[in-house]
Amino acid sequence: MTNQIALVTGANGGIGSKITEELVKAGYRVIAGYYPSEKDRATAWINDAKYTQDEVRLLPLDVTDAEHCQEVLTALWQEEGQIDVLVNNAGITRDALFKRMNFEQWDAVIKTNLNSLFYVTHPLFTFMCEKGSCRIINMTSVNGLKGQFGQVNYSAAKAGVIGFTKALAAEGAKFGVTVNAVAPGYTNTAMVSVLKPEVIDNICSTIPMKRLAEPSEIAAAVVFLASENAQYITGETLSVNGGLYMH
Ligand code: CAA
Repeated sequence: MTNQIALVTGANGGIGSKITEELVKAGYRVIAGYYPSEKDRATAWINDAKYTQDEVRLLPLDVTDAEHCQEVLTALWQEEGQIDVLVNNAGITRDALFKRMNFEQWDAVIKTNLNSLFYVTHPLFTFMCEKGSCRIINMTSVNGLKGQFGQVNYSAAKAGVIGFTKALAAEGAKFGVTVNAVAPGYTNTAMVSVLKPEVIDNICSTIPMKRLAEPSEIAAAVVFLASENAQYITGETLSVNGGLYMH
């Protein structure tokens, strides 16, 4: 164990569960935040993975509920005494052509993928600055960098994540709190497998590496940014996209 504690939001999803697994392997205790209505799925995941209670603690956390986040995360800091690494990973898609996109689809994505960064990070940030040597890692997306047809909501939210990352990095630097983003490309998870096969084939044909990313390849970038070796990197967006978009 590194004696370090990481909080991962949306930890029971495709990328979140891999990030959890890799952080546990690297010696972190992981607080695995999950959407409260997914309790059965989260419990089954933890049981299957056979994590001990020292390795992973499940935490019901609705990242779209500001008051709930404030309450739960303040209590979490008191109970755990520290959170060294925060991974803002929870995210959803509600793809539609913009002319057919309704406000609900816009709002759900902005709330879950962008407003959540305020709700989750704000209750912890002051504690992290007081403690020092902390890491905040925000999941953005290739589509926040390049803009994606059918994803005006998602691209806007994920571009916002990058702005949030840079601005907070400027504020956290003097306290030893680094803030970075990881921008996955199209990754082999449920979020991508719901797309029509012809859409996936079309996407893969435009990726220089001609394949989707594996969740472990995204998790490796997160573990690196969380590590001691990354202490002088802040405000950066690390792309893991097989060459799909170079910025
Ligand atoms: N560029 C230009 N035109 C496109 C296009 C593209 N990439 N994709 C589709 N079109 C065109 C179609 O050819 C079609 O044109 P015509 O009307 O002239 O025939 C028109 O747009 C409508 O397309 P669809 O028939 O596909 O419309 P739809 O309403 O059934 O579906 C959609 C629209 C939901 C946006 C669908 O196109 C889609 O799923 N696109 C993929 C969106 C995507 O990449 N999502 C990523 C999810 S994974 C993720 O987000 C994780 C991450 O971080 C990377």
